[in-house]
Amino acid sequence: MFKDKKIVFSGVQPSGTLTIGNYLGAIRNFTAFPEDHHCYYCVVDEHAITVRQVPAELRRRTYETLALYIACGLDPEKNTLFVQSHVSEHAELAWILNCYTMFGELSRMTQFKDKSAKHADNINAGLFTYPSLMAADILLYQTDLVPVGSDQKQHLELSRDIAMRFNGVYSDTFTVPEPYIPEAGARIMSLADPTKKMSKSDENENAVVRILDDRDAIIRKFKRAVTDSGSEVRRGEGKDGVGNLMSIYSAFTGKTDVEIEREFEGRGYGEFKAAVGEACADALAPVKAEFDRLMGDKKYLEDVMAKGAAEAKQNAARTMSKVRRKIGFIEARRPF
Ligand code: TYM
Repeated sequence: MFKDKKIVFSGVQPSGTLTIGNYLGAIRNFTAFPEDHHCYYCVVDEHAITVRQVPAELRRRTYETLALYIACGLDPEKNTLFVQSHVSEHAELAWILNCYTMFGELSRMTQFKDKSAKHADNINAGLFTYPSLMAADILLYQTDLVPVGSDQKQHLELSRDIAMRFNGVYSDTFTVPEPYIPEAGARIMSLADPTKKMSKSDENENAVVRILDDRDAIIRKFKRAVTDSGSEVRRGEGKDGVGNLMSIYSAFTGKTDVEIEREFEGRGYGEFKAAVGEACADALAPVKAEFDRLMGDKKYLEDVMAKGAAEAKQNAARTMSKVRRKIGFIEARRPF
């Protein structure tokens, strides 16, 4: 398919209040693409219902996630910002791709294994086929690049396999996407248990720093972060907690490990944790202020959603029509 621009696509689930993991691993990098890229950023509400959601909270978080996209610097005039359920082609293509995705492949997904262990009373088919919907999100727009944190790498590899399999059967239909994983911040760990990924659904509030936490909460959470019995600021065996704080500090300040080690030589963990808290709070303060302003203007957010959905739909419809033709569906005559 002829494209005059590289296409970027990514999504965030409105399944909790977003963390600095979501920010450093994904959203912050959404703003990194130059203007010769066409960027689609989606609030993936259809993915969120693979886990039971309270309807009013899902609705509120959908607005909030969109507001956060904008507050983090995504200009709705330059990016296509939209809500997944507003573009019905996502669910439609997901069904088709389900028929080109193997049971064995889905069974190997670590996110499925983790989530089914965590929600043992609700291991639904949607949780299992989640990666086919994610592949549909990406492939609908002929995406070249997908900025994500490293936990999504396995899903992305499966999206590539599905695209190549489909192209192999029906000739070139989908662009095969590449992951775009940042060097600093690709995997931010829990502050309470640095062997575990920081997750927006963690029930322990001290384990996660949320993008919208106020300054005092951010500084307090970093002060309480689990480290080790030593005092040296450097990476090493048994120093997962310090290593995680170094990654966060590096992602917010741009400093390298060597620079950080030098800066905190002989100063101990207390001072280091305070500095990480300050750097994080300073970076997030303008985001929070802009978020609060945007949440006061729902009408504006709804205008952005509507404009984004219309733009997305136009391009999604083009891919869908090609897919239907290739697999042998009769194109419906419109109007019916
Ligand atoms: P989600 O909503 O869990 O997370 C959104 C983004 O944040 C990244 N992320 C992290 N990065 C670094 N450290 C962490 N602790 C951390 N936690 C989360 C995730 O890697 C992700 O980039 N399946 C996706 C949503 C999705 C999607 C897509 C992404 C649906 N369709 C198509 C890209 C393209 C998810 O659950 O993300």
